[in-house]
Amino acid sequence: MNSSLEHHPGLRVAVVGATGAVGEVMLEILAQRKFPISEIWALASERSVGTPVNFGRKEIAVDNLADFDFSTVDLALFSAGGSISAEYAPKAVAAGCTVIDNSSHFRRDEHIPLVVPEVNGHVLDDWDAPGIIANPNCSTIQMVVALKPLQEAFGLKRVHVATYQSVSGAGRKAMEELVRQTAAKLSFKDADPDVFERPIAFNVLAHIDTFQDNGFTREEMKMLWESRRLLESPDLALTATAVRVPVLFGHAEAVHIETEKALDMAQVFDLLRNADGVELLDKPEDYATPLTEAAGKDAVYVSRVRQDLHDECGLCLWVVADNIRKGAALNAVQIAERLAPRLAERGADDLSSMSSMM
Ligand code: A2P
Repeated sequence: MNSSLEHHPGLRVAVVGATGAVGEVMLEILAQRKFPISEIWALASERSVGTPVNFGRKEIAVDNLADFDFSTVDLALFSAGGSISAEYAPKAVAAGCTVIDNSSHFRRDEHIPLVVPEVNGHVLDDWDAPGIIANPNCSTIQMVVALKPLQEAFGLKRVHVATYQSVSGAGRKAMEELVRQTAAKLSFKDADPDVFERPIAFNVLAHIDTFQDNGFTREEMKMLWESRRLLESPDLALTATAVRVPVLFGHAEAVHIETEKALDMAQVFDLLRNADGVELLDKPEDYATPLTEAAGKDAVYVSRVRQDLHDECGLCLWVVADNIRKGAALNAVQIAERLAPRLAERGADDLSSMSSMM
């Protein structure tokens, strides 16, 4: 950790949506990575007040977001849905707290940085706290981590991607629905769909988020909008088909790119082997799966790397990552780690100006 934090008591941190699929892992990762924390708050709805959640080896009781005073914390990680972020993130910032927001609510706002540290972390260099930083869409994060080194070396003209997304991306109730429907089907019964509009057990659904007027889903459009911002390539051509599959944790993606320059495959393997955040599995038979490689891990796994059979600028990749970790909670904590020294300095400045007033 940066030297400005060495003698610092740590930051006061809140996790909003702490009982949810992502919030719970945010707490786990903050503890695992020894994020410098002096006080931690777990916030959720009134329904969950008093519920214990894990923070490392400790249990902390959930407080009500609606009653929380954000002037008592330096940093809040939000993962409670877009409408909660829309209402509470600006209030938190007005109270002096910096927000890292996992919802899609602020991701297209040009005044709000959208960040994957390995890809465009530099946008935080001249950013001033307090404010909101948007954490990107899970499918987009893992894809751009794999594409960034290739873009730098060969240029990126076009991307085609088909996703195979696990149900945890739709939250805890979606995971429960998959388990319930699977158990019902194995007993030759039907369980009514609820979170998903069609059965998810033993099925695949080419529908994630709402349908748009152009026939694409919002999830597919997010991959275009957010990749353009993250890769700093406003004209990038990208076409996505986003598909929900009956997997609990880990998204997989078949990514097919077209580069500006002809590919040198030895260089492609070298770049991916050395890329920040990437774990390359270079033997075809070692391909990654969500269950066996990605779930519970931090890396973005890249395997099945093949040059297109018909195009010297074409490359196929199979990209797999834990959508709750690198796709959400881990990326948010990595952003927090970048900001921590600055937030600590800010806190120290506030303290010294308070003591000089006393
Ligand atoms: P709660 O458990 O109290 O409903 P997931 O994405 O797994 O569905 O989790 C959503 C998270 O957002 C949960 O922690 C949930 O808390 C929280 N949340 C949902 N609605 C609200 C609300 N109105 N106020 C605060 N937190 C909320």
